[in-house]
Amino acid sequence: MAAFCPTDPNSYANTHEVALSHTHLSWAVNFDTKTIDAIAVHTLIAQKDDVKKIVLDTNHLTVDKVFLVGDGSDTELSSDLAPRDEKFGAAFTIHLKKPLSAKETVKVSLKYTITEKSAALQWLTPSQTVGKQHPYLFSQCQAIHARSIVPIQDTPGNKITYSADVTVPSQLRALMSAVRTGEDVVGDRKKFSFSQKVSIPSYLIALAVGNIEGKQVGHRSTVWSEPEVLEAAAWEFAGTEEFIKTGEDLLSPYDWGIYDLLLLPASFPYGGMENPCLTFVTPTLLAGDRSLVDVVAHEISHSWMGNLVTTQNWEHFWLNEGFTVFVERKITGRLHGRQTAEFQAIIGVKALQESLDHLEESGHPEYTCLCPRLKGQDPDDVFSSVPYEKGFSLLYYLEKTLGGPEVFEPYLKAHVRKFAHKSINTTDFKNYLYEFFADKKSILDTVDWDAWFFKPGKPPVLNQYDDTLAKACEELAQEWDKKRGDSNPTVDRASFDKFNAGQKIMFLEKLLAKDPFPHPVLAAMQKTYDLNDVGNAEIKCRWLWLCLNASYEEAFPFATVFLGQVGRMKFVRVLYRALNKAGPKGAALAKETFLKNRNFYHPICAGMVAKDLGIQ
Ligand code: BES
Ligand code: ZN
Repeated sequence: MAAFCPTDPNSYANTHEVALSHTHLSWAVNFDTKTIDAIAVHTLIAQKDDVKKIVLDTNHLTVDKVFLVGDGSDTELSSDLAPRDEKFGAAFTIHLKKPLSAKETVKVSLKYTITEKSAALQWLTPSQTVGKQHPYLFSQCQAIHARSIVPIQDTPGNKITYSADVTVPSQLRALMSAVRTGEDVVGDRKKFSFSQKVSIPSYLIALAVGNIEGKQVGHRSTVWSEPEVLEAAAWEFAGTEEFIKTGEDLLSPYDWGIYDLLLLPASFPYGGMENPCLTFVTPTLLAGDRSLVDVVAHEISHSWMGNLVTTQNWEHFWLNEGFTVFVERKITGRLHGRQTAEFQAIIGVKALQESLDHLEESGHPEYTCLCPRLKGQDPDDVFSSVPYEKGFSLLYYLEKTLGGPEVFEPYLKAHVRKFAHKSINTTDFKNYLYEFFADKKSILDTVDWDAWFFKPGKPPVLNQYDDTLAKACEELAQEWDKKRGDSNPTVDRASFDKFNAGQKIMFLEKLLAKDPFPHPVLAAMQKTYDLNDVGNAEIKCRWLWLCLNASYEEAFPFATVFLGQVGRMKFVRVLYRALNKAGPKGAALAKETFLKNRNFYHPICAGMVAKDLGIQ
């Protein structure tokens, strides 16, 4: 069996012996066969003497040939592929003829094929796009799927620059997580070139191909999408530059050149993905009123937290997401006021509680640690709100304990300065915190670090947030709660109408925290607020969830329609789980609906739902 990377339990790469520093990709995208003919030219640097092999991660890739790239000519190298592990793929070992000495550079070229089985890619038929005319392809590499598009050291502990040439059918456009450097016609195909000069972890390599057009929304930002939704997308995300500027003010100048957004087809499995220079976002953000753009503030915050300062492996994922949520809420606070940011934090507390409940219920309390052990675990299985919200809680608590934003914001800046372009773990974070706040050591020593990092369940300290905006949500929820016994309940719609989108979400969260509602109450809510017809996907999802929790069959058709239109995992998973628990009829419908939509979903999402429903 291949050995694991000493700094990453989810990778086979021997980064401690030889580290990848630059990759050039040449990809020819073939929609007929759903394959990509590929060449990767890797430049690596030996980290010690006598290095005889390069171990790369792969998954479902076919490597045809490996060459040592020499000055004049290339020489073929021998290699072997270890047996494939279901979670981590197969270690691919290149044997060097001459051992490397420390600091020596080596260049290898791999000719390979990306197969239809690549877990990182979703190939969409024209019918799965908005325009229905052209096929579409997109990648999602986080956490450990880059190895299914390139044989690579697939650990966030190592960073690389990359360049790429991608050829596609001439009516389509390719975009990558990099700066666009050229566009050429090559026969009946088009070639797009890219360069990412800031070093990044492998999970930030990204590709999208489709009928994609762009509209500029800021001096360094273009919104890209299928033409049919471009105007709507450009309008929704017009505030992008304001977020970037606020991030720069909080942390450091934005160093990636451009910040573009790509609005993906409905099956994109996440809300957003911080691919550098080109954030990917779900079309469920198009609420028509800019009410869901905090996701963009979140992805922009990753430009520093995650993309510049990166977790060393997925056990310290909170260093990416917890810090990002913290910065996201700082941006919200600066642009929309402290109360709004605190309100978001309260929504976060709910999300954390839901994750804790679900993970405990499903027999995995150990996943609720801020730093979970990932040996033998697929990071996708461990993914939850815990790193986001427990991580945020820790930083919020530290800020308050250490003396507030005036002392903590300079620390955040220093953290970025200290660790930019590096990969770090929780100990690095803690050591530098102690170094920066050397004069506050006695305060830091009062923090129960062990409990924060390694104990499952609730955070050891619960923060108090300003609940001015949340109060009205609880009051309205209680008003409905009191109607449980009524056969024809009525509640005035005025207070709900006055709520902003976040408060509507919170109101539904409050209802979700209570016992399932009697059906006449749900019918009255629908009659009063017309929730079956709302366009905001966050509101719609929670409403349907509330109905399913009560096995309210009137809502089943609305839930199945929604599940056929939206592929964002966060919505899809909770609704399938709730439908599956909504009596025998619901359980049957959950399975039937999933089997019908399986191909619509991204492979990562389909895999997770299949597990949730016990279908294999
Ligand atoms: N980087 C994450 C998405 C991700 C995490 C993909 C782990 C794969 C593995 C992204 O920044 C994110 O957190 N997205 C959130 C939005 C956010 C506002 C919390 C999402 O997708 O909902
Ligand atoms: Zn994130």
